[in-house]
Amino acid sequence: MASSSPTSLTGSDHSDADHVSLEISHLPDGESERQNEPVITLNSEECLDDQKLTRIPSLKPSPSVHITMDSHLSPGNRTNASQVNAENTCLVDEAWENLTKSVVFYKGKPIGTLAALDPSADALNYNQVFVRDFVPSGLAYLMKPQPEPEIVKNFLLKTLYLQGWEKRIDNFTLGEGVMPASFKIQYDSHRGKDTLEADFGGSAIGRVAPVDSGFWWIILLMSYTKCTRDRTLSEMAEMQRGMRLILNLCLADGFHTFPTLLCADGCSMIDRRMGIYGYSIEIQALFFFALRCARQMLKPESGGKELIERIDKRVTALSYHIRTYFWLDFTQLNNIYRYRTEEYSHTAVNKFNVIPDSIPDWVFDFMPLRGGYFVGNVSPARMDFRWFLVGNCIAILSSLATPQQATAIMDLLEERWEDLIGEMPLKIVYPALEGHQWRIVTGCDPKNTRWSYHNGGSWPVLLWLLTAACIKCGRPQIAKRAIELVEQRISKDGWPEYYDGKTGRYIGKQARKYQTWSIAGYLVAKMMIENPSNLLMISLEDDKKIAKPRLTRSLSWTC
Ligand code: GLC
Repeated sequence: MASSSPTSLTGSDHSDADHVSLEISHLPDGESERQNEPVITLNSEECLDDQKLTRIPSLKPSPSVHITMDSHLSPGNRTNASQVNAENTCLVDEAWENLTKSVVFYKGKPIGTLAALDPSADALNYNQVFVRDFVPSGLAYLMKPQPEPEIVKNFLLKTLYLQGWEKRIDNFTLGEGVMPASFKIQYDSHRGKDTLEADFGGSAIGRVAPVDSGFWWIILLMSYTKCTRDRTLSEMAEMQRGMRLILNLCLADGFHTFPTLLCADGCSMIDRRMGIYGYSIEIQALFFFALRCARQMLKPESGGKELIERIDKRVTALSYHIRTYFWLDFTQLNNIYRYRTEEYSHTAVNKFNVIPDSIPDWVFDFMPLRGGYFVGNVSPARMDFRWFLVGNCIAILSSLATPQQATAIMDLLEERWEDLIGEMPLKIVYPALEGHQWRIVTGCDPKNTRWSYHNGGSWPVLLWLLTAACIKCGRPQIAKRAIELVEQRISKDGWPEYYDGKTGRYIGKQARKYQTWSIAGYLVAKMMIENPSNLLMISLEDDKKIAKPRLTRSLSWTC
């Protein structure tokens, strides 16, 4: 258990009793295809979901995952198992120790965690608190057996304060709602005190505002509220205003013909040019998730009511669009392969005039008969067929993916384990761009060479997202297997930021060591496996009111 956390930030008055309770029960006959299997029922009186009671399918072995934790527990392996357990407890302790070291204090209060604490490399901007990087750190503090929500509260308030700054890059003023990518504490020797300095994209390599920051901020506010059951923070007038400002940026009227959000390259975790401009799945899934979280926290006062109505309409349109046009499985791939082009009028089947010749060869081999995923990007005459892990996992957690789509994504992970997980979890994107494509799409980026960094590198931080998605789908064995892989190497390798190579065998060329989100991501994954009710903090159930599109079916839809 991670209860061995040696660390504690300043006094939390939060007790275990505040936590969600967990019961094992059985579904009534006929209620599910998985009749008579135990389900874990999560009770949370003040769960922000519409439903007061949330059900998570039972933790079920998946046939195509050959190694399970149980295999360690066969009689011949007992000694081995206790040795592994002891090693893993040490690993958890070590992770907490490192996470604690990364905590940043401002005026005596913990307000975030540094991106990395690598003594062997130039700090660059890794000595800052990144909004997206703090999410797994914050979740780790919320999911501890004795939660320490204070750091999360301070972080949310401090970033809200930074949002209030006038944000200028050269002579151009950014939108009011933009949240910082990162911030740091500077000692002002003139004034003799610490001051905050924030980056809204002006200093980042891509010089692009972080669209994901605002969404993660809203999502983390929901996690905080669910964990503490304390609505006073989210109901503060300033917090409500902060949410409204973020949403106003994304819900503004414009020339759009799609409900998706048009974004520049480099505006999210992949913060360099990688051909994700347009309507990247990561941003669309985070947008959807943030809209649904805000929907639960916004109060009708001060313009909130009108915003709630806009959210409802957008959520419906967005889910239809993504579930229909971004979805790819064997059947859909075959449909696209046979598409007619140049269809005019609203009756067109090939809505975006995707030319079949633009389907890359690798997709035909990669696509299993069982499984499917949301592709990276869809816009006129363009489908980016690459697999992106963040977007697909967030789609599961936010219930943007229908239950059948979520199952198919899990099937794909099993079927394509070598490609998507390999020796070190997890591929941020698959496959890598090489040669001519790498030159024109990345602009010859030497950091994003093939199978490195954002271009097909493997990122241990993503373990927490995978674990959450697996638990939600009732397939924790997939996550356990990935966790085991991480545990074999990560500490010996010094908790790197990312790994390189087709199977993720090598420590990343320019990877920082002691990267905080690699550490926090591992802790969150462990705490969710140990206590699946932690999932509630970061997941939303399917909203039955959202209309379902009619979809084609592949093999995985029938199981
Ligand atoms: C890299 C990553 C970015 C992360 C930052 C700090 O730039 O691409 O996603 O936020 O490092 O860890």
